[in-house]
This record gives sequence, structure tokens and C-alpha cells, in this order.
Amino acid sequence: MSISIENLTKRYGPLTVVHGISFNVAKGEFMSLLGPSGCGKTTTLRCIAGLEDANGGVIRIGDRIVSAPEQDVVVSAHERQIGMVFQSYAIWPHMTVAGNVGFPLAIRKVAAQEVERQVDEALEIVGMRHLRDRHPSQLSGGQQQRVALARAIVGRPRVLLFDEPLSNLDAKLREGTRTEIKRLQRELDVATVYVTHDQEEALSMSDRVIVMDGGRITQAGTPKELYRRPANRFVADFVGRASFIDVTRMNGSGWSTAAGVRLRLDDAGAPPATRYQAMLRPESIDICHGAARGKADESDNILCGHVVESHYLGAYTEYLVEASGAKLKVHSRSDFDVGAEVTLRFAPEFCRLVALGDEDRV
Ligand SMILES: Nc1ncnc2c1ncn2[C@@H]1O[C@H](COP(=O)(O)OP(=O)(O)O)[C@@H](O)[C@H]1O
Ligand SMILES: [Mg+2]
Repeated sequence: MSISIENLTKRYGPLTVVHGISFNVAKGEFMSLLGPSGCGKTTTLRCIAGLEDANGGVIRIGDRIVSAPEQDVVVSAHERQIGMVFQSYAIWPHMTVAGNVGFPLAIRKVAAQEVERQVDEALEIVGMRHLRDRHPSQLSGGQQQRVALARAIVGRPRVLLFDEPLSNLDAKLREGTRTEIKRLQRELDVATVYVTHDQEEALSMSDRVIVMDGGRITQAGTPKELYRRPANRFVADFVGRASFIDVTRMNGSGWSTAAGVRLRLDDAGAPPATRYQAMLRPESIDICHGAARGKADESDNILCGHVVESHYLGAYTEYLVEASGAKLKVHSRSDFDVGAEVTLRFAPEFCRLVALGDEDRV
């Protein structure tokens, strides 16, 4: 089944927190809602689940309208056949593992024997069947998370929803659980909406990512599209590490920095705006000692500058290089002293033009 959201609006009193957003998630698709805290991700998810009443718009699961307040249609949460995992796990301490996992079936009045069978199946899938009679207090955080996962998939939901399910796990466990959630989702082949503020999580797990800001969708695309071609400064900044240089269009063609250095960049499809910046990813910049000498490769961009900061990160060092009036993050495995004169080189395809909106910080 697919999920379709059309013009979803949600208000709390006078405050509008979701401003008429629209998107579709196809059957089997893994879609993330990514954005900073407070941008409306959880609210959107809870409206899909039926845990919040939307104020406007239409939500469909498959062909069925489950929420259309303007037409007085609201299908209750437990009739939507959704599996959901919450950030807090929300498992009940007084019930056993099996009791927790079987709860959604029990309230749907499924026969006891069938509940047992489906609970064991779900626990088997998450590797927790041997712990079915334990209580949550006898489980680790990672195991509690698996109980929450098993409860979400029991009874074969039509749609899966996740709200920051990994944020309470430590870094190592988080990585393993990521892989596991992906595997589960593929196996079940259901439309999935995954809420996170962690860009790495969103990029690594999703077929598509929707970036939200202030209750609105800023950009939707595949992880590669977002990383390589962010629509504006907000997305460029939020997804991955990035540096920015102010640029202006030169008479004729091409772009120039404030210091008058000509840049070739990827400006295809950039939206109209009054101000622009060139965005650079730290791993796309080559850095070498000294001022540029000899004839540069015609197609590459070259900037001269000096190192102002250096942060050793093990696999590489992140340098901050002041060049052409901007401070650029550069990743390199070579050593450079703070103060050293350096030359930066980068190909036009890794130098992306982004528009500055009125709301963007400069
Ligand atoms: N029950 C509520 N009553 C009033 N405001 C709320 C309520 N729940 C969320 N909000 C507000 O709605 C906005 C979006 O919240 P939320 O969807 O939880 O954001 P996110 O999940 O992206 O961090 C925030 O400004 C938050 O303070
Ligand atoms: Mg949230």
C-alpha cells in the first residue's frame, strides 16, 4: 500500500505547525522526514498514524481516505493498520515481551491462539523469541528497541512509521539497528516513513528524503540529489558538511567571488534569487602546499589561501582555509600547519550554486 498526503495542515490553537504539505510514499519505499527539532516531523507522522487530528488536507493509505477533516472523514488509529515505533519505545513495564508485542492484536480482538502464533513470528524476525517471557526491566536498551520493533510489525501492518527510533541507543548499537530496520523494511515491502534529525541516518537508509523546515517541505529527493544538488542554503547546510562563498553573475557568462576570482560551477536548475553562494563539500576540495604554480587544468577552479584552523579527526584532518573572502572546510590526510599558504582545487561539478532565500542566514 502507498501513502499519499495532500495539503496536510495541522494547528495547535493559533499556531500552524504543518503548512499544507504534500508527498507520496510508494509501496515498499523508505522515505525519511529530515529536519531540525521543532520543524513538524513528529506532528506529520502522528497525523498519518491517526494519533493527532489534522486540521486540513487529505491522507490516504492505499486507496482509502483515512483523514479528510474538510469532508468529516477520520478513521481511528487502530483501524489504519499501521505499525509505529516511537522514540521512547513506549513499551509497558508490567507486561512481558510477548504481552507487549501481542497488545495491538489483543485490542483488535484476534483469537488467543492466533495472537501467540503472530507474536512468535514477529519475535523470531527481530531475534527475540527466546526472551518472550521476560519483563522490559530485564532487557537492555537495544532489546527493548527490538520489542518495540516486533510490536510494530506484528499482524503485518500496511504501513510502517518510525519516530527517531535510534536516538536512545549508543553509537555502535545504532549502526547495527539501522541495518536491521532496513532489512526488515525490505522484507515486509511496505511504505515506510522514518522521522529523524540525523542527516547521516536519513542519507544511509532512505530511498528518498524530504527535508522540512518550519512546517514546510524545503526539498524532496534521493539522498544523492540532496547531497549533490541542494535546492538552497538551508538544505546544503543541514545535509552533510558544507562551506559557502558569495558569488555574483559576471557580465556575459560565469560567476565571480567577491575578491574577483572567476569560478566555474554547477548552476543547472538553480532557482531565481537575488543572492547566490557557491557550495563546496569538504571532501571535494584538493589542498596542496604553496601558491598555485604552473598551468592549472583549465577545467578546475583554483583558490589560494591560508590555513586558519586544523582539527585532527583520525581518518583525516579538517582544515579551515581562508580563501577569497570565505572560510572553507577542507578534508585531507596530509599535514598542513596553521598559517600555511595553500592552494585549493575543485572541479565545477562539485561546486554547486545555491540560492539564498530571505529567511536564510548569511
Ligand atoms: N501538543 C502540542 N501543543 C502545542 N504545540 C505543539 C504540540 N506538539 C508539538 N507542538 C509544536 O509543534 C511544532 C512541531 O513539533 P514536532 O512535530 O514535535 O517537531 P519535530 O518532531 O520536528 O521536532 C513545535 O513548535 C512544537 O512546539
Ligand atoms: Mg519529533
